[in-house]
Amino acid sequence: MAEAHAVEQHAAPAAERWEPRIVAFLCYWCSYTGADNAGTARLKYPPNADIIRVMCSGRIDPELITLAFSRGADGVMVCGCHIGDCHYISGNHKTMARMPLIKRTLVDLGIEPDRFVHEWVSAAEGEKFARVVRDVTEQVRRLGPLDWPGRLQARGVGRGMGHTAWGEQP
Ligand code: FES
Repeated sequence: MAEAHAVEQHAAPAAERWEPRIVAFLCYWCSYTGADNAGTARLKYPPNADIIRVMCSGRIDPELITLAFSRGADGVMVCGCHIGDCHYISGNHKTMARMPLIKRTLVDLGIEPDRFVHEWVSAAEGEKFARVVRDVTEQVRRLGPLDWPGRLQARGVGRGMGHTAWGEQP
């Protein structure tokens, strides 16, 4: 009986087994502490976010975001200190200027912009951090798996001069 159950589980369609994989870049001084705060308060949120701690959200080069997508992330979130609270004074001003551009660039790259979320989370906002992770996970779940390398291949990227970047015949 146990064996039959194991086979059934093994035969479940891939889509049913899929869980969104979210890469979360958090600034050390506020958002990472906010995540810590959520953990200390035992707030419940999905385990889908892989946290990467950076010293400041202004450190997050757009290339890091596309790198995360190219290495298998289905969604990416960036969290930093609220405006006025950045420990490097203006780091999050750079973040604020970059984020809308990143969304537009993702569209050009064939990635739904809703796969990327940017939020300010302070050290005291554990509840907000938990909510953001819940919301992003559900938002990305609705979009389904990304498989960006597979999408690029399907569009003919890398197939040479006979195709445009998105696979159409010129
Ligand atoms: S230190 Fe948190 S955004 Fe700059």
